[in-house]
Amino acid sequence: MRNRVAVMHGVNLDALDRRPAEHYGGLTFTALERRIDGYAAELELDARFFQTNHEGELVEELHKASDYADGILINPGAWTHYSWALRDALEVSGLPAVEVHLSDVEHREAFRKVSVLEGVRVAKVSGKGVEGYREALAALKAAL
Ligand code: DQA
Repeated sequence: MRNRVAVMHGVNLDALDRRPAEHYGGLTFTALERRIDGYAAELELDARFFQTNHEGELVEELHKASDYADGILINPGAWTHYSWALRDALEVSGLPAVEVHLSDVEHREAFRKVSVLEGVRVAKVSGKGVEGYREALAALKAAL
């Protein structure tokens, strides 16, 4: 049976094509999800997608994730840097998770270096654009 992956995006990712192209590549969020779905298919993973701009909705989705997924691929957007509630919710999920960012969060503003998910995720991929999602999915598959 194929492993099931919950692909979760947080705040402002739905407006990807209206954000600075030098960091985010200028593609639409729909195009991003399509690319991720393609990578998942290549890796023989079943992907299910979720995006929200409401922190509590992401927390609730994480609480239910183990009902339908074996692992989590997550780009929480700016919540990455300060939402301790998100960190705790990921722990509640009990699932292996890989954190991914389109942009190079290590070499931008200082606040982006902090990730609340440190310690509750198995890997982090950043600064590789859409291709980084392929690497992140492969890392998740290895952890499943
Ligand atoms: C992001 C990086 C975050 O710092 C930022 O707030 C985002 C997107 C990324 O994919 O590069 O919204 O997670």
